[in-house]
Amino acid sequence: MPKIFVTRKIPEAGISKLKSAGYEVEINPADKVLSKDELISYLKKGKYDAALVLLTDKLDADVFQAAGPQCKIFANMAVGFDNADIEAAKKAGIMVSNTPGVLTNTVAEHTFALMLAIAHRVAEADRFTRAGKYHGWEPMMLLGTDLSCKTIGILGLGKIGSRVAYHAVKGFNAKAIYYDVKRDENFERELRATFRATPEEVLREADFVSIHVPLLPATHHLINAERLRMMKPTAYLINTSRGPVIDEKALAEALQNKIIKGAAIDVFENEPAIEPALLKLENIILTPHIASATEATRDKMTELAAENIIAALSGQTPPNLVR
Ligand code: DGY
Repeated sequence: MPKIFVTRKIPEAGISKLKSAGYEVEINPADKVLSKDELISYLKKGKYDAALVLLTDKLDADVFQAAGPQCKIFANMAVGFDNADIEAAKKAGIMVSNTPGVLTNTVAEHTFALMLAIAHRVAEADRFTRAGKYHGWEPMMLLGTDLSCKTIGILGLGKIGSRVAYHAVKGFNAKAIYYDVKRDENFERELRATFRATPEEVLREADFVSIHVPLLPATHHLINAERLRMMKPTAYLINTSRGPVIDEKALAEALQNKIIKGAAIDVFENEPAIEPALLKLENIILTPHIASATEATRDKMTELAAENIIAALSGQTPPNLVR
């Protein structure tokens, strides 16, 4: 019976799928991230046929080596796969898969939760109210910014970036501009969106900049001090992609010095650590990497990871093979 290792407790949906396929499933009994040494030791001892892994597992050549020649696939329960060294996996003869599509709506919704919350000062207003500072309606109290009819700038036009643009245009009558390495003329026609040839053009023009790029060497610190200075002083920056895309120290300085109006971010440069200066600021909203965290979506992510494993162990190409 094929053996699967799951690196941490996950929603039951995917586990049931694996068990129904006739596999023996072993789950890390401690509900915590395994260190590299712990992961290697599990893999060496268990001689698993596949592993269902998380974005918090760092998968390098040593880990793939430890998995052994019987191991066919590491199924990442995330759309992002910057935690895995894909070349090292290929060298070890192991496939890596991800979970695109099933989380698009949820992440887009969370992006809007952040965008509206920062523009309408929701978290700040909640703190204000709980602190007993509300003494009656005031014409100038906690004034925010409308998203309606503004320009939204999308950096990275994948599934999530396009869905965010769609909601902004259809729901808020916003104007969408975008930068991506690939131009998408159908998207432009559908949303009357316009392509910008550089991220800088988007940064200069947008009232709300929403980041949806994968983490690659080319996108590391895509948003740095220099690029933050290109943004309008009235603009907001939203990030639900990967933390290292933003230089967090530079962001803290930009927010302190009112270079931009606000930011709302779900991901951090050195998770779970957060640049301490950010924690002190009122003009930022921070959520702990939960953009895909709804019950339904997390179930679907585990199921899709399981489907990738089942395909790989049945001798087929997994539907979401990362190449
Ligand atoms: C992903 O899937 O890459 C998200 O960051 C976690 O859901």
